[in-house]
Amino acid sequence: MKKILTFALTFCAFIAAMACGSNDPEVDGMTGATEQTGGDEGTAKGKMLVIYFSRADENWQVGYVERGNTAIMVDYIKEQADVDVFEIVPVVAYPADYDECTAYVTEEINENRRPAYKNEITNLADYETVFIGGPIWWGRPPMLFRTFFEAHPELDGKTIIPFGTHGGSGVGSYTTLIKEYCPNATVLESLGISGSSVRNVSSKNTVENWLKKLGVDKQSTSISNVRAKTNTANASYTLNGTRSNGQQRIYIRNGNKYIKR
Ligand SMILES: Cc1cc2nc3c(=O)[nH]c(=O)nc-3n(C[C@H](O)[C@H](O)[C@H](O)COP(=O)(O)O)c2cc1C
Repeated sequence: MKKILTFALTFCAFIAAMACGSNDPEVDGMTGATEQTGGDEGTAKGKMLVIYFSRADENWQVGYVERGNTAIMVDYIKEQADVDVFEIVPVVAYPADYDECTAYVTEEINENRRPAYKNEITNLADYETVFIGGPIWWGRPPMLFRTFFEAHPELDGKTIIPFGTHGGSGVGSYTTLIKEYCPNATVLESLGISGSSVRNVSSKNTVENWLKKLGVDKQSTSISNVRAKTNTANASYTLNGTRSNGQQRIYIRNGNKYIKR
């Protein structure tokens, strides 16, 4: 219910802002919250990839920044999990000036454009779990993500984890877009952090707790590619790790290494 209300408020604000020509995305009256939106049952597994877009330069409530807000969130994920990273970089950079950018994006949405991006990823098949995230632009993920999803139908069926930063709208619209393009994906709990607070230490902790809840952390993913050198489906393996106090509590499940504290 909360999710529906949030989406409805954002959508109304978006329509209202478009109607009165405002470039201000905060018109939805919701501020700065960190929000976690429930997803399908399950945990992250196998080899992991983070796909993201983030715009530096002038932004809502942070002024000019050298590194975009979502990029900071990606830094936290990288610190805490063994992930590969693919950045979606638009061929035509978005205007550095915030007001110019919002006007430009309004046109992009109205014309239903599919902006091109620079590099391509060719080994998506290698990944079982994919984080997908970016900013919220006018109540939704940037159109770049539509370009990306349309080029990558192979994302469907994977475990996908939405995340992003926003100015108050939350990132539930990432889950909606992912489900639109990947109806067979398992979409886990998303995390949205307000762009103005993403640089706070508390946000780093929030990311850490969210990842733990999803079954992701450096220790549980440091062996992500355990492969059996046998055709026996039921082969079993032992892996012992010794802590300084002598406890042996390392085990592998679904190709992930776990350390029991
Ligand atoms: C063109 C544009 C539109 C935006 N629209 C919204 C919006 O509708 N709702 C919202 O909460 N924040 C909105 N924002 C704020 C961004 O989502 C927020 O600053 C985000 O953290 C930017 O992330 P980035 O630096 O990774 O690009 C908008 C920002 C821009 C530049």
